[in-house]
Amino acid sequence: MIIRLENIAQYVGQTVTIQGWLYDKTDKGKLQFLQVRDGTGIAQAVVFKKDVSPEVFDQAKRLTQESSLIVTGSIRADERAPGIPGGFEIGVSDLQVVQIAAEYPITPKEHGVEFLMDQRHLWLRSSRQWAIQRVRSTAMRAMRAWLDDHGLMEVSTPVLTPSAAEGTQTLFPVEYFEQQAYLAQTGQLYNEANIFAFKSVYCFGPTFRAEKSKTRRHLTEFWMVEPEIAYCDLDQLLEVEEQFVSHVVQTCLKERAVELKYLGRDVSKLENILAPFPRIRYDEAVERLHQLEAEATDPEQKALLHIVWGDDFGAPHETALTQQFDRPVFVVGYPTQVKAFYMEPWPDRPEVCKSADLLAPEGYGEIIGGSERISNPDKLIERLKDHNLPQEPYQWYIDLRKYGSVPHSGFGLGVERTVSWICGLEHIREVSPFPRLINRLYP
Ligand code: 4AD
Ligand code: MG
Repeated sequence: MIIRLENIAQYVGQTVTIQGWLYDKTDKGKLQFLQVRDGTGIAQAVVFKKDVSPEVFDQAKRLTQESSLIVTGSIRADERAPGIPGGFEIGVSDLQVVQIAAEYPITPKEHGVEFLMDQRHLWLRSSRQWAIQRVRSTAMRAMRAWLDDHGLMEVSTPVLTPSAAEGTQTLFPVEYFEQQAYLAQTGQLYNEANIFAFKSVYCFGPTFRAEKSKTRRHLTEFWMVEPEIAYCDLDQLLEVEEQFVSHVVQTCLKERAVELKYLGRDVSKLENILAPFPRIRYDEAVERLHQLEAEATDPEQKALLHIVWGDDFGAPHETALTQQFDRPVFVVGYPTQVKAFYMEPWPDRPEVCKSADLLAPEGYGEIIGGSERISNPDKLIERLKDHNLPQEPYQWYIDLRKYGSVPHSGFGLGVERTVSWICGLEHIREVSPFPRLINRLYP
């Protein structure tokens, strides 16, 4: 019987087969300790000279790191046994070598990040990278599951688009026959068409931003899940967001406890992540930052915290704000001038818009951008002009406001930023299996 190592606990006392690769090996003469990984976990397989044929023992001795092998043996529980999840051992009775691997470039010694990124196609096999992708996969599944269960329908939006949606500074141009096209920065505008057909929808896919700065939270290609809901105002939207994010975090805690433990994540910080989340106005956030700036003693930190009303937040501002809360915090009502053209102005206060960002705690910062959308066609045309955007490519988008327009809202959650926070990582690049950064397109 072929089993998966993630289920090893269910097979204590049974003889089973594992198809995998050699992660590491310790040679103790008559005993060969093989760390075998099968893509779902790692377990120690013990080859004892007197329990196997001379050929099998000889093969075990010849195994190199990452050799592919099929191991058969009986599972026993042993608290001290290393592995993921650990605590179980395989007493090998048979072993078949599929391929002896060539000398593997990634050894247990420390390597630099750039070297490892050049070896990304191999690095993904390392336990830490493996654990991060397992959490990512579960987070993405939890996102889909929550939305599907709450009446939102998945609709795919195009990647090749004719115009900007999130500013013209970060567009990736693509030659499209005789025309100029761009890679999608968001699926939102198309989602806004879809809600009039399906009421509540989401898209889930890769999005692209030609981010010219190197930071620990920017990729040029990232995945975004974007719900959009008709007959929904900003307050209702925030309730959706906090339920959604709580579900994703709690699902990862429950289903990926082994991986989070391997990553050394302090899960007590994640256990707090339950709706409702605090809400503060942008105005109040700026006051808090002024306070922090006044209290700061280090001149460099003071300068980083400096802000005047109307500025967008930078990473240091978000970091400082989120350190004041033990769960994600909504910052509501940003200045209109720093946000996209489609956001509904605040009633009686047009310099502010009905937008909200969700900032993750522990300094992680923005994981969601969302807003109520302008539902009046004339107002929208005015805003396009303010942003120096031509009307013609957006005619279809303006049309939506002419045929049964309703208040509507939506948000976009960045998958990599969210998983980076859940896993407690230093840099977003590890969350993408094959990250695209300003200086990285290989492999
Ligand atoms: O705040 P943003 O730009 O919002 C939108 O694109 C809206 N159209 C979404 C919507 O309302 N449907 O981006 C949303 C989220 C950010 O909060 C962040 O998590 C992520 O997308 N994001 C990035 N993640 C990694 N690298 C980048 N360069 C990112 N830019 C945005
Ligand atoms: Mg944003």
